[in-house]
Amino acid sequence: MNFLEERIVKDGVVKPGNVLKVDTFLNHQMDIELIDQMGAEFKKRFGDAPITKILTIEASGIGIACLVARHFHVPVVFAKKSKSINLDGEMYVAEVESFTHKCKNQIIVSKKVLSSEDHVLIIDDFLANGCALQGLLSIVAESGASVEGIGIAIEKGFQPGGRMIRNLGYHLESLAIVDGMNDETGEILFRPQEA
Ligand code: G4P
Ligand code: NA
Ligand code: NA
Repeated sequence: MNFLEERIVKDGVVKPGNVLKVDTFLNHQMDIELIDQMGAEFKKRFGDAPITKILTIEASGIGIACLVARHFHVPVVFAKKSKSINLDGEMYVAEVESFTHKCKNQIIVSKKVLSSEDHVLIIDDFLANGCALQGLLSIVAESGASVEGIGIAIEKGFQPGGRMIRNLGYHLESLAIVDGMNDETGEILFRPQEA
């Protein structure tokens, strides 16, 4: 097990409905040393790519992205969620469907902070169905920037997002891939990874 998998086993809580709570170290209270270590690991995995910007989405992605960015020495851009906005041509916009909240939201990024010159590393806390990620990819495509990679803290391997993204040919690195969880025993099954 790697350091994140070990921490998930120690402090993660499996809830009914295949939900993994990581509120004490990642999503609510944040363990900065742990997340900094995640940043170092992403730097190892993506270090050769000419990354100019980290892109994430509010809210939980932001803190993680900031610590990752310390290892790449580039700015963080976070897409904002918005119910409805005036399309004034100054923004890239994508529709994101939320399975959990059963609604559609727009996410927006100002054209001032993302352009065709950029090489983007996308960072997020969870990858489940991949709807948020599809929205971010659509925004990057609209900007003309290139996606150098996608770094995820926890991928839920039994939901379709990861497979979809890999099938599209993206370089996706998830530090922990959960292939199964049992809310009665609390057991968590990780997909084996190379060291
Ligand atoms: P997805 O398609 O973007 O992969 O996510 P999905 O709609 O399935 O999930 C909606 C929200 O729930 C997302 O956060 C996602 O990160 C989060 N999520 C999904 N599975 C889990 C889980 O097992 N545990 C936890 N803790 N979160 C999970 P969000 O509402 O878009 O963002 P945020 O405001 O929380 O950052
Ligand atoms: Na998130
Ligand atoms: Na979340």
